[in-house]
Amino acid sequence: MKIKNICCIGAGYVGGPTMAVIAQKCPDVKVTVVDLNEARIAAWNDEDVAKLPVYEPGLDEVVAEARGRNLFFSTEVDKAIDEADMIFISVNTPTKMYGAGKGMAADLKYIELCARQIARVAKNDKIVVEKSTLPVRTAEALKSILDNTGNGVNFHILSNPEFLAEGTAVQDLHNPDRVLIGGENEVAIQSLVDIYATWVPRERVLTTNVWSSELSKLTANAFLAQRVSSINAISELCEKTGADVNEVARAIGMDSRIGPKFLKSSVGFGGSCFQKDILNLVYIAKSYGLNEVADYWEQVVIMNNHQKSRFAKNIVKTLYNTVSGKKITMLGWAFKKDTNDTRESAAIDVAKDLIAEEAKISIYDPKVETSQIKMDLGSSFEYITVESDSYEACQGAHAIAVLTEWDEFKEYDWQKIYDSMLKPAFVFDGRNILDKQKMKEIGFVYTAVGSSNE
Ligand code: UDX
Ligand code: UDX
Repeated sequence: MKIKNICCIGAGYVGGPTMAVIAQKCPDVKVTVVDLNEARIAAWNDEDVAKLPVYEPGLDEVVAEARGRNLFFSTEVDKAIDEADMIFISVNTPTKMYGAGKGMAADLKYIELCARQIARVAKNDKIVVEKSTLPVRTAEALKSILDNTGNGVNFHILSNPEFLAEGTAVQDLHNPDRVLIGGENEVAIQSLVDIYATWVPRERVLTTNVWSSELSKLTANAFLAQRVSSINAISELCEKTGADVNEVARAIGMDSRIGPKFLKSSVGFGGSCFQKDILNLVYIAKSYGLNEVADYWEQVVIMNNHQKSRFAKNIVKTLYNTVSGKKITMLGWAFKKDTNDTRESAAIDVAKDLIAEEAKISIYDPKVETSQIKMDLGSSFEYITVESDSYEACQGAHAIAVLTEWDEFKEYDWQKIYDSMLKPAFVFDGRNILDKQKMKEIGFVYTAVGSSNE
């Protein structure tokens, strides 16, 4: 079965870039991305590709190539569903904030709404693809809603989790380590395999049953997050013992069984996925009575919260146990470099902790909009200022905290920054990106995660 018309519900960080690349690579397939959020769709349609709602290196070129040819962004959800042979669901699945599973389980409200809408509109057979990360066995629920509320047409459900990382989304989509497709129906599976096989080597397209696919996505994120928490746990020990976490990471990473990637100690992981997916895994394990399994994975999140909180505490302690009224500059607000996404960013928790200590926070990030920082901080926003110039942000500060590993921070004229600060001038490097020796020579009191202060 050859797919000619794709619809994707959800024009977010996952739906937008993924569909743009499918459209780029399959010019004979019409791809329509729909979303309830009109402002977001308008931004995807903006003539100026610099204004796309998602910042990803290289995405502007992909969109410029395909948009208007076979890639469309629209708010007409019913129409796009009606026309499509294959419908991707890529709406957000936040952690549930009410009722049973509050703070842990995935909220599937938007998924269910999508399923009901598809059932209502569909007049011919459709393949429905779960792109959103979902708890295991959600496909079953989707199928039940579709079959019981539909117009008597056939629905085949596939699970096709997305493994792209933000900041490298286009690269990851062009050259994925693997593409995973879970399903029951061979014809449906093959039709999605054929789409990816246009540009992904066939041996990298894995097919499994639906539940393995759903669980693999949660497991992949849990393992990745676990590595960060593991190295962060060691970072605290390094600070006490005089070992250097970068040296430890290099030494263990050269063991080919461990490997060098994802061993960078930091102020804590963020992003929309890691915490949410682990909590989801914990909830699923608990729901089957697997308490040891649940506790094991929950510890990854507990360690991460500890890492964020001790970073803020260390700033207060080092600044003579008070930051009240002191200007502290935060460089970076995004949860990692090369993205404007701030979901679960460690910077948010660190800022809130410092605001609670009455610090005067000044924030600079090269890509995050002030309106986003305002949303992230809520009522705490009145205690901070956002600067568009990093040197101005640092002027007159008692301390600088590096929260995101943006490349430009390494290139700054740190002597100039030092000269403009109060003395002693403190730098807390939450990403281990600055040159310790050079910073000390300039005169900074420089503290990096995972190494002692000497
Ligand atoms: C993705 C995945 O889909 C999610 O499962 C994963 O765990 C996190 O990343 P993402 O693309 O990052 O989500 O989310 P977001 O940027 O919030 O985009 C979701 C979009 O869906 C939003 O633009 C929202 O307006 C839209 N939406 C949501 C709908 O169009 N309809 C709905 O009913 C709900
Ligand atoms: C992650 C997964 O990598 C991706 O496969 C999945 O589809 C979505 O979730 P993402 O959240 O975009 O992607 O970014 P990632 O590069 O995994 O980083 C997550 C967080 O961990 C960031 O805050 C990052 O700074 C932090 N991190 C990562 C570290 O602190 N140290 C590391 O060594 C690696």
